[in-house]
Amino acid sequence: MRGRRPKQSRGRRQYNGIPRFARNDIHATMLYIAADHGGYPLKEELKHFLIEGGYEVADLGAEELDLADDYPDYAFKLAEQVVQDEEAGGILICGTGQGMCMAANKVAGIRAVLVHNDFTAKDAADHLNANVICLGGRVTNAEMAKKFVKIWLDTEFSEDERHVRRLRKIEEMEES
Ligand code: RB5
Repeated sequence: MRGRRPKQSRGRRQYNGIPRFARNDIHATMLYIAADHGGYPLKEELKHFLIEGGYEVADLGAEELDLADDYPDYAFKLAEQVVQDEEAGGILICGTGQGMCMAANKVAGIRAVLVHNDFTAKDAADHLNANVICLGGRVTNAEMAKKFVKIWLDTEFSEDERHVRRLRKIEEMEES
């Protein structure tokens, strides 16, 4: 399995061994964002929205619209950054969000999910403790995307035992 392990516990950022993505503190929340050509226009709009909202945002590309670029390149680059900083989150955008999600989840420590409505945005945080969300630039417009990202950022992981147990099973698979 490729990818590095997340950093060791820093207390409040972990729950029963599961690294928690920091939320509700925009000054502590570093967000990485990346997109291929299918998500490039949405990335640009979302990036400016988040910066105006006070988030620290690092854009990992694409730097310009390139119809020949490949989503795994951006997914792996962003995922490698997020696993090195458990307080960071990531937003990946391709045409559907699906390819980015597949690729990002190959990196150990990444919990990437596809978000396409309010329910999946909330579930991404409170049940799944997702440290990366994936959006589809061809299926989600900018206003929807801004709302979904805010829901994800403003929702805390529930810490319910059943959700921790399920996430730990995924971690154990990664470690085996
Ligand atoms: C690229 O054409 C497209 O396949 C990609 O952006 C994405 O939709 C994959 O899931």
